[in-house]
Amino acid sequence: MSTGPRKPPDQLRSARWFAPDDLRSFGHRSRMMQLGYTDAEYRDKPIIGILNTWSELNSCHSHFPERVRDVKRGVTMAGGLPVEMPALSVDESFNKPTSMLYRNMLAMETEEQIRAHPLDGVVLMGGCDKTTPGLVMGAITAGVPMIYLPAGPMLRGNYAGKILGSGSDAWKYWDERRAGNISDEEWLGVQGGIARSAGTCMTMGTASTMTAITDAMGLTLPGASSIPAVDSGHMRMSSECGRRIVEMVWEDLTPSRIITPAAVQNAAIVAMATGCSTNAVIHLIAMARRAGVDLTLDDLDALGRTTPLIANVRPSGKDYLMEDFFFAGGLRALMKQMEQRLDTTCLTVTGKTLGENLEGAVVYNDDVIRPLSNPVYKEGSLALLRGNLCPDGAVIKPAACDPKYHVHEGPALVFDSYPEMKKAIDDEDLDVTPDTVLVLRNAGPQGGPGMPEWGMLPIPKALIKQGHRDMLRISDSRMSGTSYGACVLHVAPESFIGGPLALLKTGDIIRLDLPNRSLNMLVDDAELARRRADWQPPQPRYERGYGYMFSRHVTQADKGCDFDYLEADFGRTAPEPDI
Ligand code: FES
Ligand code: MG
Repeated sequence: MSTGPRKPPDQLRSARWFAPDDLRSFGHRSRMMQLGYTDAEYRDKPIIGILNTWSELNSCHSHFPERVRDVKRGVTMAGGLPVEMPALSVDESFNKPTSMLYRNMLAMETEEQIRAHPLDGVVLMGGCDKTTPGLVMGAITAGVPMIYLPAGPMLRGNYAGKILGSGSDAWKYWDERRAGNISDEEWLGVQGGIARSAGTCMTMGTASTMTAITDAMGLTLPGASSIPAVDSGHMRMSSECGRRIVEMVWEDLTPSRIITPAAVQNAAIVAMATGCSTNAVIHLIAMARRAGVDLTLDDLDALGRTTPLIANVRPSGKDYLMEDFFFAGGLRALMKQMEQRLDTTCLTVTGKTLGENLEGAVVYNDDVIRPLSNPVYKEGSLALLRGNLCPDGAVIKPAACDPKYHVHEGPALVFDSYPEMKKAIDDEDLDVTPDTVLVLRNAGPQGGPGMPEWGMLPIPKALIKQGHRDMLRISDSRMSGTSYGACVLHVAPESFIGGPLALLKTGDIIRLDLPNRSLNMLVDDAELARRRADWQPPQPRYERGYGYMFSRHVTQADKGCDFDYLEADFGRTAPEPDI
């Protein structure tokens, strides 16, 4: 299909920098000459920014320097000028206190880098968890044509002939180590074998979830999110991103034409069908709100109830990893399998509809990508809870927890900080039973700060030794997409700002009723009012710098944790530079 008339070269955004016969443009042109470019290389041509989240401390993006070369090849072949630009790396592996603190910083950097420079279109290179939403959120607001290049999952892990999955097997083997069931040698073997190549975590963690969401929304080349990072197909996809973005500039195929309410709904349905990370809730809401689409927790819950989980990929699925998913046909095959549930008329970066992009997609292994009639789990991967403990919502991943906790009542054991919990949890005399509900508070957007991935609270050693591997846990933090267990997360409003979780006391009875989507503390209103009157707000975590700004402007989990002043409906859109 045609995506509209071809833009004349003098309408290129970059022409505003280079075309006028004035002193400013003289300066810009002379500096292009300083960079070694002749007129023929950039005048009247789309200038394509390659926003690269590479760093030597981002283990998931270590192949990006090579991929930049592939993208440049594609841009040049299509008649554009590629320019690589750095963007905040936001690595998941090393960032403390949590990479989530910096997602919005990347989003701001992306938006402002694009706005301030003579760019006609951008290729966004990301993949490790927060880089996908950060880049996409900023580029949505900047509004120039963009294509997303996902880093791709790493190869399967392996130790002593056993397949290892990112994150999930780290937690699993750690519990066995705490129980005294594995040796130091085995533990070191797992450490060396769990991350074998460049690329993002190869379970259906946050990285694979967010790149799948971006793919389903129409922002990547079709199926790009499933290609393993080190597969030669990943290089070809990168070069094709370069070729395609040049065409998108001429077609003026901007994000606002792609990210419609229907495209957001497609992304949410696909997320549910993949067994997505709980983090998807926060990021998808934030991305949608940047595009002016008001996606709510209730919308997601409704989709979750009617969308079966069909990707048999860990941790929600039982057996497989992203490499298997790719060989089974990848995301295009999954979307083809559920085509009747998607709006296939949505426009995508290819200039074609989603339906056209899915033509010819085939499932090669129906145990990995299940038919709708034989799902891994009959409902979607996420459920949203409400109640007097979480009036603005909380999230749980039913498929990844022991079903016996779907309806549960038990006494709370409350920790006010992560260090306090860490100190107590290995005390073999800790007063816990399998019915106890572990609670961690002050771990939300402001309290964490940055809402760290602490939500898969460790099982107390006393219970581990008795053979227990799951229990009900509640917090206002997030958890890694590779985590599992009966973990209620994202309790909103968070305790740090006085959400009801702040009023809970050890010994209070908590009741979870997942089929009815409720989470309550069985404490009467008069008692809660008494506790409310006694509650003192804590000191803000940050007194200066970025954290100061973060604490004052971050929204709660149910609104996506963007900064209030970056959302689509806040203030007038920034004007294009005109001097
Ligand atoms: Fe980068 Fe998991 S640490 S994707
Ligand atoms: Mg992660």
